[in-house]
Amino acid sequence: MKILFIGDIVGRTGRDIVKTQLSSIKEKYKIDFVIANGENSAHGSGITESILKEITGSGVDVITSGNHIFKKNEALELVSNKNINLIIPANYPEKVQANRIIEKLIDGNRVVVINLMGRVFMKEGLDNPFYKLDELLQKIPTNSIIIVDFHGEVTSEKKAFGYYSDGKVTAVIGTHTHTQTSDTEILPKGTAYITDAGMTGSVNSILGDKKESIINSFLTGLPFKPEPEDHPAKLEGVVIDIDNDSKKAKNIKTIRIIE
Ligand code: FE2
Repeated sequence: MKILFIGDIVGRTGRDIVKTQLSSIKEKYKIDFVIANGENSAHGSGITESILKEITGSGVDVITSGNHIFKKNEALELVSNKNINLIIPANYPEKVQANRIIEKLIDGNRVVVINLMGRVFMKEGLDNPFYKLDELLQKIPTNSIIIVDFHGEVTSEKKAFGYYSDGKVTAVIGTHTHTQTSDTEILPKGTAYITDAGMTGSVNSILGDKKESIINSFLTGLPFKPEPEDHPAKLEGVVIDIDNDSKKAKNIKTIRIIE
């Protein structure tokens, strides 16, 4: 089983390259299942139902999210819709009605997708993602392929979560920093890991957004409004090769396509 994880899709530029490139990537790498982080897919912040449909229409099976998931007004209703393939970080307090885990049967293999969020320099008030993982694992049948999107800011927290999860899940894929890291590895107990899968959006940008408004924010201390930059675009992510019997990862490699 081969799974493609696409790094944070930012705005139309990111959505466009997913649309134009995903089918050829699937063919080239013989991909069986696609996950993408889509929390910045609606004009750089949040997601809407029509954009979700656009991304899944391009061939993405499950969309994960993070700290920007509730930016659009319709988000609360959207994330509680059981018929859509969108999840929020599972360590949001239980009071939030939302999809937190998605299970799919792919060629006889149960694939489970989980999203968790780091707490360092991130949103306050979230449950501890380490304990939350263990709690979720108690409800997941053994012999499942389990992919975790760990949405976090800090490399140490992500790495710690990776090692904590080693042998418990198939892969821990970091997201949120929009900067692809060069630390893909198979951890000692068979879990594939990367600190950040990267970003899918504008090449000549700051994390997908126009440079000028962000530089101005650093010069003035004023807040910036996300304004996704245009093409050229890049698509970044990882391809995880999984052993169907053991459900452990055999290989993980980064991809980057520029158009
Ligand atoms: Fe984020």
